[in-house]
Amino acid sequence: MIDAVGPGVIGLAVGDRVWLFLSAFQRPTGTAQEFTILPIERVAALPDGVSFDVGASLGVPALTAHRALTVHEDGPSRLAPGALKGRFVLVAGGAGAVGHAAIQLAHWAGATIITTVSSAEKAALATAAGADVVVNYREEDAAARIREAAPAGVDIVVEVSPSANAALNAAVIANRGVVAVYATDGDGRLTLDVRQHFGLNVRYQFVLLYTFGAAALAAAVADVGAALRDGALPVGSEAGLPITRFTLEETAAAHDAVAAGAVGKVLIDVTVAGL
Ligand SMILES: NC(=O)c1ccc[n+]([C@@H]2O[C@H](COP(=O)([O-])OP(=O)(O)OC[C@H]3O[C@@H](n4cnc5c(N)ncnc54)[C@H](OP(=O)(O)O)[C@@H]3O)[C@@H](O)[C@H]2O)c1
Repeated sequence: MIDAVGPGVIGLAVGDRVWLFLSAFQRPTGTAQEFTILPIERVAALPDGVSFDVGASLGVPALTAHRALTVHEDGPSRLAPGALKGRFVLVAGGAGAVGHAAIQLAHWAGATIITTVSSAEKAALATAAGADVVVNYREEDAAARIREAAPAGVDIVVEVSPSANAALNAAVIANRGVVAVYATDGDGRLTLDVRQHFGLNVRYQFVLLYTFGAAALAAAVADVGAALRDGALPVGSEAGLPITRFTLEETAAAHDAVAAGAVGKVLIDVTVAGL
């Protein structure tokens, strides 16, 4: 919620409910504090009826997922209902925070979504998020299951584990498809079969929120805002993203929970009593 605005700020005012991105903004404590000051470019309106839990879950995962879903050479560069109609999207790790956001945004945009998970519990979360086909990559023949769902291959892969999944992606990518990589695994290196990839005209697109550029960031913020207004980005176990809460005093424990691999989203309640 906005407590004060500086001179020249238009579009947002005291009392407005907002969500933030790139909001650590040169502070070692980031937003783990009761009050923070940000450039208006890093603040977006939270639509009426959308909870602060949703707002707190967006900043990194939804914007990263938006970028991954908008780098196919044939577009779309923007997401909206129907923008991904007819497209097959493979989301690696559909119970992860970015994976969850990618499923929700792709579902909102009309894609057919296939996702990989490692357990029945995570499969239930990915289904709740909106995935059409959920594959347990530890127990099933993932390539065969994905090909069954997308006989001509998948158009976009949203990839959390590029090294481990390189061969799988090569086996299921469509001609002129894109693998959008937003994380590293193993020793951070990736080995590709070049002939196989140029045979399919595949693109590898690397994605880093902090540096992917102002235009892509603005597009992501605008489209995530539209998805919010459509109620397309709910959180909580029933929406596929369990929430684990901590108080502000427990911030270190919240970080420990993330480091320990908490499933879903870890949130810190920063509200001051009486506000
Ligand atoms: N580039 C960027 O701008 C950007 C933005 C946000 C996050 N990140 C990075 O992205 C990573 C994930 O972030 P997050 O917040 O989404 O983490 P998260 O909530 O822990 O999710 C990661 C998911 O990946 C799954 N996974 C791991 N190996 C897999 C594999 N081989 N195949 C399929 N799924 C696999 C995990 O589940 P299982 O292990 O059970 O499969 C887990 O569900 C982190 O390293 C984070 O730093 C980068």
